[in-house]
Order: sequence, then C-alpha cells, then structure tokens
Amino acid sequence: MCNLDLQVGFTLLKSLTTQRYSVFTAVIVLTVICLIGSFWVSWLIVPFVILAVLSALGIHDVRQNHHAVTKNYPLIGHIRFLFEKIRPEIRQYLIEGDKDEQPFNREQRSLVYQRAKGAEDKRPFGTQEQVYEAGYTWLTHSVIPVHFDNFDFRVTIGGPDCKQPYDASLYNISAMSFGALSANAISALNRGAKIGNFAHDTGEGGVSRYHREGGGDLIYEVGSGYFGCRNEDGSFSPDKFAVQAASDQVKMIEVKLSQGAKPGHGGMLPAAKITPEVAEARGVPMGEDCVSPPAHSIFSNPIEFCEFLGQLRTLSGGKPVGFKLCIGHRREFMCMVKAMIKTGIVPDFIVVDGTEGGTGAAPLEFANHVGMPMVEGLSFVHNTLRGAGLRDQVRIGAAGKLVSAFDIAHAMSLGADWCNSARGYMFSIGCIQAQACHTNHCPVGVATQDPQRQKALNVGDKSQRVARFHANTVKALGEMAGAAGLHDPRDFLPYHFMTRKSDGQMTEGQEANPYLPTGFLLDADGGDYGYRSRWDRADAHSFAAIPLD
Ligand SMILES: Cc1cc2nc3c(=O)[nH]c(=O)nc-3n(C[C@H](O)[C@H](O)[C@H](O)COP(=O)(O)O)c2cc1C
Ligand code: SF4
Repeated sequence: MCNLDLQVGFTLLKSLTTQRYSVFTAVIVLTVICLIGSFWVSWLIVPFVILAVLSALGIHDVRQNHHAVTKNYPLIGHIRFLFEKIRPEIRQYLIEGDKDEQPFNREQRSLVYQRAKGAEDKRPFGTQEQVYEAGYTWLTHSVIPVHFDNFDFRVTIGGPDCKQPYDASLYNISAMSFGALSANAISALNRGAKIGNFAHDTGEGGVSRYHREGGGDLIYEVGSGYFGCRNEDGSFSPDKFAVQAASDQVKMIEVKLSQGAKPGHGGMLPAAKITPEVAEARGVPMGEDCVSPPAHSIFSNPIEFCEFLGQLRTLSGGKPVGFKLCIGHRREFMCMVKAMIKTGIVPDFIVVDGTEGGTGAAPLEFANHVGMPMVEGLSFVHNTLRGAGLRDQVRIGAAGKLVSAFDIAHAMSLGADWCNSARGYMFSIGCIQAQACHTNHCPVGVATQDPQRQKALNVGDKSQRVARFHANTVKALGEMAGAAGLHDPRDFLPYHFMTRKSDGQMTEGQEANPYLPTGFLLDADGGDYGYRSRWDRADAHSFAAIPLD
C-alpha cells in the first residue's frame, strides 16, 4: 500500500471513531452487512447499492476541502444543504420572514455569502421592506449620478505627528484575536486582506505566525492584557512593543479601551483553548486561563492615557496610533479630549464600536444592555471632536453590524471615515451563525482551536472569498455614492438619508444626527446642544467628574 492509501485509511479509521461520524459509520457497517447478506438473500443487492453510493459520498465528504460542514459531518451535513434549498419555501408557508433572525437576518447573511462567492447578488421583483413603517431609512439620490471606473477608495490615516501615514481601505477586518478564531480563519482573513489590499486588525491576542504568513496589512491591537508586548507580570513592555510594531506588516497601532459587546468587562481565554501557538503569539504560559483585565494598568487618568498614546507613536517609529472604544460615560470621553488639548498629543484615529457589536463570548447582560449603540456613539465622538476643534486631525472608524454598502454609507454620513466588520468577514469564510463560538465546537472551523474542526476551513478558497466580499461591497458602496451624485463615499452627509418616524412623517438625518459647529465647545457662548454641562464637568487630569457648584 502506498503512503497516500495509508494516510486515507488512517484518516478514515480516526473519523469513524468520533461521534460526528456516527451516521457515516452506521452506513458503512450496513453496506458491509448487505453485501455479505446478498450472497444468500438476492434482493439485499438493492439496499447494498444504495448504501454503497452513500458510503462513497461520505468518503468524498471527508476528503474534500470545499464545504466545511460536510467535512466535519459527512453525509448528515448534506441535510443542511437540503434544508437550505427548501428553506425559503418552508419559511414562506410555516415559519418566519427573511428579516426575523438575529443578530443577522437571512437576507444580510445571504448578501455576504453571495458577494463572497462572486454569485449573483441582485434581487428580482422589488423590495421586501415595509417602506411606510417607522424606522424605514432611504438614501436620497441625484438626477446626475456619478460613474466610477475605480472603486479603490482610500482614506489617509495619520495626523501631523505621524511619520508613516497609512492609506486605508474604507472597509477593513475588525479586531478578532487568534485564540477566539482558529489558525485557518486568521490565515484566510489575512490572505484575503493581502489579495484585496485592505487591513486586518489582529484583535487583542497579538500578532501570530498566521498573521505573518499571510502578509496582509495589520492593525496591531494593544488590549489591557498587552499580549505580545507584556512582561511576565502582565505589565506593558515598551521593548517588546517596539519589536512588534517595527514589522513592515504592522501599519497602525490601536489601543483597545473597550468593545461594544462587553464594555468594562475584560475577557478570558480558557486554558483549553491555549495551544502552543496561541501562547507564543500572546506571550503567556500554557495550561493557565489567559485573562484580559477590565482596565489598563499603564494609565489611570486622561493625561497618562494621552502620554501612553504618544509613547506608542514614538516606539513604533511614528506609525498612526489610535484607540477603540464603545461609548459609556460620555463625560469620560470628553476628559480624554480635554487631555488631548492639554498635552497636544492627539490620536491619529478613534474606532467607535456599538453595543450591537459581536464577541467570541460575553455575559448576556453586557451583550444586551451595556454600552451605547453605534449610531449615537459615533455621532457623539464626531461632534465632540468637532466641538473641540480636533476633528480634522483625527480619523474615525466605525463598527457595529455593518455588512452592506448601505450600512457603511449610513455610518459614513454620521461621521465615519471608514468602517470595520468582524462578523461580516466571518460569514465570508463560512460562519453559519451557529453561535457556538465560545464552546470550541464551531461547526465550520472558524472559531475553534480543535485541529480537526479547523481543518475543514480551506484557507485558499476562503481567502478568495474574503477578498471578493470586500471588493464587491466596496463596489456597491461606490455605486451608492455615485447614485447620490457624490465623487467619494466619504462625502455622505446626514441629509442624504431620510427616515420614517413613528408618526408616519419623514425626517432627514440632519435633524436626527446633526453636525455641530466646529469649535463650539471651546467658546463659552458657543451653544449647548446637550453637550455643555458634561463638557464643563470633564477634567483632563481625572476621569472623575468635576463637582457642580
Ligand atoms: C469572534 C469575535 C472576536 C472578537 N475579538 C475582539 C478583540 O479581540 N478585540 C476587539 O477590540 N474586538 C473584538 N471583537 C469585536 C469586533 O472587533 C467588532 O468591534 C464588533 O464585533 C462589531 O463588528 P461586527 O458587528 O461587524 O461584528 C470580536 C468580535 C467577534 C465576533
Ligand atoms: S459558525 Fe457559529 S460557532 Fe462558528 S464562528 Fe459562526 S457563529 Fe461562531
């Protein structure tokens, strides 16, 4: 027997002994029984032929690399495809509408799958939206649409103190760490980012070998665990940070203050998910739970926070440095803005995450009820920076269920310079929203460290899907900007969007989320707009409130 046969035989034997393969095993056993029985009972040849075909299909499932579900669940995995096929009919007569499922409804997921596969993403017959119901939002278009030949829109990130500005795409991969995601998922995302020339945020788990192998642009996220740049006691190590940041692949540095799904909570990767490679990327020991504390240890007040940003900029050789947060106490953000003015250390970018954002694992209460939704958070950050006269120095990124070009266009109208997506890109590499990311049993190999399960995720195929999802989404964004008569998606403004209110009347975005006057917070007579008393109580030296007289 040659090596290949031995290998296949071994894989088959191993497969047959695990629970996921029980149906496949049963079919093979019955095939053998029917074969032997057919020597005495001739009609057993009929079930034998059927079972032999099924066995061959099961073997094919195990060996193929295209469909993760059938690789992990030979034979029974096909039931998913069967149900997927008849699902529209069943749903139409019996169950729910295309827009009912949460957090992403079927229409949103199908859009990502179609764009990732490069399949037809057009819809026949007309909208299924209830256009006269409250909350319906639409884009106002122009009678002189703009045509684009090049959809590679870019935003330059890097203020006056930055020495290595970065020309970012308008739609990048949001922070998700190696540890939360599998090695193959990280590889596929990063290779996709390389193919499509856009950025991949490492998440707080450090830069792993799978990020490096892919060669795609990285945003190195520094969380409260300082993974990849920590001393043994968990404190920040400037020397280790400088080594990580020196890599050509690292284009920007992002300090994580919080994420929308669990702000103020911190995180923990259980010891079971810590493989030698995860430990290597994070700089943590094996066999122990890996904890991200809720707060950073390197700063405790707004001035120290700005000084830390300045230190990271120096240590990285002048790369763009920014931070990510979900807005909580609005005054605390104003404290940071006052500290920026006081120290003169202004971040190059801020990423605003909404409470609707995703996570590998979060307590239900935090996921459901802690943190500001993206629309309000983004509008607040944008207007505070405008009010403080800093908006032109700081670029703003936004994240929070932004999977379609319309979602991105709307976020841009609220003040975002670019958008990130985590779960959109997860869908593009095969996530089926099974919502078992925290169990290590992800059925498609995206969010697991189980080597067998993640093998089902074909890196070559999925990286192409990542790139296609990005390219097709950005193209659709350009087409929307063109329809509105704009020459760049960054020109979207609130008044380009109309929303139906609960009284049935329409309101324009400018009314719901207006742009406030530049510098109004710096002038005592500059107007209130609901910002003034909070601004007055914000202190650059402390996150505690200045008491009112
Ligand atoms: C599996 C998973 C892991 C995540 N890990 C991180 C992380 O390490 N750091 C971080 O700042 N955000 C993390 N996030 C949040 C995302 O970066 C993003 O801000 C949020 O999910 C909103 O984007 P989305 O709605 O497109 O998913 C994670 C999200 C998911 C789904
Ligand atoms: S398929 Fe389920 S478990 Fe896997 S990444 Fe998607 S939501 Fe998480």
